[in-house]
Amino acid sequence: MSKKILVINGPNLNLLGTREKDVYGTVTLGEIASMMNKEASGLGMDLDFIQTNHEGEIIDRIHSARGVYAVLIINAGAYTHYSIAIRDALKAVEIPAIEVHLSNIHAREEFRSKSVIAPVCCGQISGFGADSYLLALKAAVNL
Ligand code: DQA
Repeated sequence: MSKKILVINGPNLNLLGTREKDVYGTVTLGEIASMMNKEASGLGMDLDFIQTNHEGEIIDRIHSARGVYAVLIINAGAYTHYSIAIRDALKAVEIPAIEVHLSNIHAREEFRSKSVIAPVCCGQISGFGADSYLLALKAAVNL
């Protein structure tokens, strides 16, 4: 089995660093990618890191992950809360997936506390800022 991991970032995460800094902090997505790459090489894993604002592209990337990636790490952004299509794609490909969020989605607006992708993921890491991604990487090693 390959040790390749795909990190998928959904809508608005390209704006990290300038977007709602009180909620998401000042770290940029590029910095998160660098931190993850560094950590992954220490763990002997290969990482691909993508961001898109388009639901269909997330679904296409999940489909084409089959046979290529051992684990998916996904921050689906707002799609987390209502995209049954992303949930179905994750379920269909049967690749272990870890859900991540920078903010604690359970401590914010009521609509954010529901994740429709959580039931098809191995687990959820939420509320640790950029560290949520690094914690997900640690979890990925043992999947
Ligand atoms: C987020 C939480 C979502 O509710 C929100 O829509 C995002 C970011 C997070 O990482 O905390 O875009 O996924």
